[in-house]
Amino acid sequence: MSYEDVSRDNSQRKKRKRCLLLGVAVVLLTVIVFAVVLGLTLNRATNSGEVLKDTVISRCKTYLKEYANLTSVNDCERIWGAFEQAYLGKDPCEVHPEAYDPLINSVTDHVFCGTMLFWSKTKTVVHEFTDNRECLFTLEDTLLGFLFDELTWCSKNNSQEIFTTGCPGWSECVNNPVRSFWIRASANFAVTACGNVSAMLNGSLELPFSTTGVFGSIEVKNLDPNKVDGLTVLLVTKETDTTTCANPSFQTLRNTLDPNIALNCRQVPYGKVENCISNLDIPCNDCF
Ligand code: APR
Repeated sequence: MSYEDVSRDNSQRKKRKRCLLLGVAVVLLTVIVFAVVLGLTLNRATNSGEVLKDTVISRCKTYLKEYANLTSVNDCERIWGAFEQAYLGKDPCEVHPEAYDPLINSVTDHVFCGTMLFWSKTKTVVHEFTDNRECLFTLEDTLLGFLFDELTWCSKNNSQEIFTTGCPGWSECVNNPVRSFWIRASANFAVTACGNVSAMLNGSLELPFSTTGVFGSIEVKNLDPNKVDGLTVLLVTKETDTTTCANPSFQTLRNTLDPNIALNCRQVPYGKVENCISNLDIPCNDCF
């Protein structure tokens, strides 16, 4: 073999070695990048705080897409920040309604006088009705209520973690994060109410108005007589129900409500509400 042949052979061997090393490096890098991405994704998916944040931010964006006029005045990340600071690091039985004041102040909602609908023990039917109609709005149809409806959250003393399971139940302790949120949000919803408002109550109950629920203990008391003209009870009744607008619990409602706010009551057959839910051609005014 000549000197040139040996030299060419050496240089080809070196080139092959370099190629091999480069190939190994590329494969290693790909594996590392994949492992990091997978690790981050798994960690994110198993961290309940991140899952809750993703849910709330995505609901926020969905809502603002539907009500574009609210987009420029609401910042989903800022709303999340105000929400988590209300209970993060606190004992889950020591979160008071006022802790949500910064959250309330961070949200700009729309208020349409005369369209506000309160409810008690009628959650499913009331939302089946308002979900596809624009004539009446419940708290859960506003941005604030929409963001947190049906969610559970809490933290722990001196912790930076958010949990979505193992949190105190509604009545387990008075000042739990979820209950305090709904009390604060409901008070705010009622305070901003104006014109003629309605409340859908359950005619299958012996006493449809209760002073212990959020409607009876918070919302009724926060209606401002300078802004609210009247409250109309829509008593949804099934054929076999015996409860009527003459029910004694409405006297309790009258006594709880500011005397300057008129109180009316209308019995609404359940079937009529069902028809309005399934047939959107029926105008709102013909539903109640
Ligand atoms: N355990 C768990 N959740 C409860 C409990 C409880 N004991 N009591 C109330 N809640 C929560 C649930 O999320 C339930 O769906 O409050 C919701 C409403 O409870 P109801 O007794 O049906 O109604 P009420 O307490 O009168 O409050 C409804 O408050 O949410 C606002 O604006 C909304 O007008 C509505 C009113």
